[in-house]
Amino acid sequence: MAYNLLKGKRGIIFGALNENSIAWKVAERAHDEGAIFTLTNVPFAIRLGDTQTLADKCNTVVIPADASNIDDLEALIIKSMELLGGKIDFILHSIGMSPNVRKGRHYSDLDYDFLAKTLDVSAVSFHKVLQVARKLDAINEWGSVLALSYVAAQRTFYGYNDMADAKSLLESIARSFGYIYGMERKVRINTISQSPTPTTAGNGIKMFGNLLDFSERMSPLGNATADECADYCIVMFSDLTKKVTMQNLFHDGGFSSMGMSFSAMEQYNKGCDEEPDHKFD
Ligand SMILES: NC(=O)c1ccc[n+]([C@@H]2O[C@H](COP(=O)([O-])OP(=O)(O)OC[C@H]3O[C@@H](n4cnc5c(N)ncnc54)[C@H](O)[C@@H]3O)[C@@H](O)[C@H]2O)c1
Repeated sequence: MAYNLLKGKRGIIFGALNENSIAWKVAERAHDEGAIFTLTNVPFAIRLGDTQTLADKCNTVVIPADASNIDDLEALIIKSMELLGGKIDFILHSIGMSPNVRKGRHYSDLDYDFLAKTLDVSAVSFHKVLQVARKLDAINEWGSVLALSYVAAQRTFYGYNDMADAKSLLESIARSFGYIYGMERKVRINTISQSPTPTTAGNGIKMFGNLLDFSERMSPLGNATADECADYCIVMFSDLTKKVTMQNLFHDGGFSSMGMSFSAMEQYNKGCDEEPDHKFD
């Protein structure tokens, strides 16, 4: 059901790779809610993914940009303002990538060039987007900028690897830049900490199926889906949340406030007779 919550608003959406992507669902919902926006992704992902199909559906264009490259970001933001006919009201940063996760490096044996890439693409790129947008004065007053995070920023989750460090930095950038952009131009900046979600990035995490099941059992409302995350993003882009800024907003069915649930305890008890394998890899 649509409520015209984003009627008249212009946006830029990063990170729609295929129909499972959280950004894909946000783009569909934003389109339904009356927004106009551009889509963007790295050229490699545009070639391999389905971003153009989404653009056709949403009556828009895809502008290639590596979110860690300042020149690309400048070109993207300038082109988006030209095409959309004015300054931007919302931006979704839905980007994550870790070469250490991809190559199966253990957290105690990280490749530091890979770590630098993880942090640059998954976190510093958020700062770059904000810095470029601010220098171009590209965001309207009461504009809303969101990035997607995960609870591994606060707690340790086996297998999440250096993405946990990236998410901590990402959330910190939202607070630090949120102060500056809020004071100067009333732009709000938040992160949404989403449940594990079966997407290309999600499935790359070690034992992701087990994480999904554990999280489902621990959350009183169950895991939040990508569609539900899109609903939350729309509300955060709308004028209904004008005074929310510098927050990390949990969208996880209650998971982050839980210690142990009945369902998870029951499942744990079933496996208690077996000798646990203490070998971490
Ligand atoms: N899937 C989950 O379980 C989960 C949970 C919480 C948070 N998140 C976060 O949600 C966001 C979106 O991920 P997703 O789950 O939809 O997976 P996804 O794989 O569909 O999206 C990740 C996107 O990042 C893009 N990307 C990678 N490097 C880039 C670069 N240099 N410049 C621009 N774009 C680049 C990819 O092309 C892809 O479109 C990520 O920040 C992810 O960490 C995911």
